[in-house]
Amino acid sequence: MKSGDGVLLWCALAVAIWAAKGQGSLVPPRREVYDNGRIFDISHRYQPDMPEWESNDGIGQFLWLPKSMKNGSIANNSEMKLPTHTGTHVDAPGHVFDHYFDAGFDVDSLDLHILNGPALLVDVPTESNITAQAMESLNIPRGVIRVLFRTLNTHRRLMFQKEWDTSYVGFTVDGAKWLVENTDIKLVGIDYLSVAAFDYLIPSHLVFLKDREIILVEGLKLDDVPAGLYSVHCLPLRLAGAEGSPMRCILTKN
Ligand SMILES: *[C@@H]1O[C@H](CO)[C@@H](O)[C@H](O)[C@H]1NC(C)=O
Ligand SMILES: *[C@@H]1O[C@H](CO)[C@@H](O)[C@H](O)[C@H]1NC(C)=O
Ligand SMILES: *[C@@H]1O[C@H](CO)[C@@H](O)[C@H](O)[C@H]1NC(C)=O
Repeated sequence: MKSGDGVLLWCALAVAIWAAKGQGSLVPPRREVYDNGRIFDISHRYQPDMPEWESNDGIGQFLWLPKSMKNGSIANNSEMKLPTHTGTHVDAPGHVFDHYFDAGFDVDSLDLHILNGPALLVDVPTESNITAQAMESLNIPRGVIRVLFRTLNTHRRLMFQKEWDTSYVGFTVDGAKWLVENTDIKLVGIDYLSVAAFDYLIPSHLVFLKDREIILVEGLKLDDVPAGLYSVHCLPLRLAGAEGSPMRCILTKN
């Protein structure tokens, strides 16, 4: 290479960096991981093609801009309409127990202590749903209160497909019972829209929510996070009267 080529290369590089910077200044950062893994965002982004219960078309348009600067308003003001069990979300006891619903056990009544604290991210064997046998094989020690279950759903990237898929992995009734009877787990997190396998949809929810001690966190984004011990931070909206709420969840590592 001649020395002139080197200069040319430098110039091209400088121009490229300058151009990238100029564009970069108006490109919002979107991150999954912060500070080399000190924070993992384990919430899914709300967008029209995210999956929705019993829908082949995803959640569709859920966001509008009734007041926009282009149309003369002093600011942009969006409105949204969203089922409360969309994307990364929490279930309150009123979800499957009508008398709890009537008594007001809504998302505003959920214990923030359970939703925030040390949490274990575990990999569930991929050959079955979360049965008693699968639970037993995980050997989750007593005293562990919060567990995020990463399953085949993550490997199949089901939360990134707009078509709802009933073949997702979740808890069977005996799996749910095993958890309630043999562990101290009070926060159950999973990587698709329901902790309960479709064939056990209501019965498994009933087992978990019966005593109002367990909080169900659904639709988590657990890909590319190493298994292990973290602090989980999940904050539902204070939707009075709602049995579900979209939620931001993150994992932090100290
Ligand atoms: C404001 O609304 C306009 C549409 O009128 C949109 O193009 C623009 O991106 C919005 N600005 C912000 C800050 O959201
Ligand atoms: C502005 O108003 C017009 C007429 O009501 C509407 O068709 C258009 O979609 C609006 N644009 C935005 C960005 O809100
Ligand atoms: C889990 O159960 C669902 C039905 O609820 C089924 O379609 C799926 O194949 C099962 N997955 C595995 C890995 O056994």
